Amino acid sequence: MKSVLFSRFFLLLPWILIVILMLDVDTRRPAPPLTPRPYFSPYAVGRGAARPPLRRGGPGRGAERRNESRPQPPPEPPLPTIYAITPTYSRPVQKAELTRLANTLRQVARLHWILVEDAAARSELVSRFVARAGLPCTHLHAPTPRRYKRPGLPRATEQRNAGLAWLRQRHRHQRAQPGVLFFADDDNTYSLELFQEMRTTRKVSVWPVGLVGGRRYERPLVENGKVVGWYTGWRADRPFAIDMAGFAVSLQVILSNPKAVFKRRGSQPGMQESDFLKQITTIEELEPKANNCTKVLVWHTRTEKVNLANEPKYHLDTVKIEV
Ligand code: UGA
Ligand code: MN
Repeated sequence: MKSVLFSRFFLLLPWILIVILMLDVDTRRPAPPLTPRPYFSPYAVGRGAARPPLRRGGPGRGAERRNESRPQPPPEPPLPTIYAITPTYSRPVQKAELTRLANTLRQVARLHWILVEDAAARSELVSRFVARAGLPCTHLHAPTPRRYKRPGLPRATEQRNAGLAWLRQRHRHQRAQPGVLFFADDDNTYSLELFQEMRTTRKVSVWPVGLVGGRRYERPLVENGKVVGWYTGWRADRPFAIDMAGFAVSLQVILSNPKAVFKRRGSQPGMQESDFLKQITTIEELEPKANNCTKVLVWHTRTEKVNLANEPKYHLDTVKIEV
């Protein structure tokens, strides 16, 4: 009897040991997380966006792994596209200006750059530049008639109008997607915060501009959330005493005012902004941005004329170099 018990015990012993070992190994495994762990990939931010988090609102927005069993929050409305119209003309610093500007614009989510050359045809330099710019870009051209190329006359009228015409043509059939238009001259300096501010434009938004009008800054004066006047040192009689870099317009407003354009006839330098804004809005309607127009987020910088005193008249170098 005893020997039978013993033999049974020894027969079972290896199995008992195996079971104990398995249980032990299993308990040493880390417990599965109760809530899905968030993951962070710079290139997996929300629906279909292949851009780093920096470009969206806050860090990790939309970056949590979806839990299929839980009710989903309603999908976010699409981020309005910012259309930046940039007139540009050939000069020694052109590629440097465009490089600086592209380096800024490349960091802005959902931005479409409309680059309009002041020329009879698209140049090779700008075409090559656009191909390598690394952001969605439409490359247009429109020449300024010779008679308007004089100091004291407004600049870039035809180019901004070409950009407006392209925008209206592109959206002529479909219902307007949310969008915001901004005139981005190629020589100004833009903070990334500016694009966050303008993206929420409902009709026409305004903000201060630094280093303009003979002062450190110009700005719309705001009372109770409404624009009531202008802080400016130059032609305070302008209906909208604001630089081209100081406002943005919603795509909807551009489309519902199809005749609003920049005008040559009767327009003086510094009045282009007023002449245009008068066609689409009123002072009462303006939406102040940048903390009630108390922050400078864009600067009307101007690049010094480059010194080419020692540039040879004829090509002397052994290679041809694009500058
Ligand atoms: C100021 C305003 O900031 C401009 O928005 C306005 O167009 C200009 O005055 C004006 O007088 O019309 P400012 O710095 O004096 O600007 O002008 P620029 O920066 O020389 O020119 C504005 C834009 O037009 C730039 O993007 C420039 O590349 C472009 N431009 C200038 C041309 O396309 N063609 C030209 O012959 C000159
Ligand atoms: Mn300028």
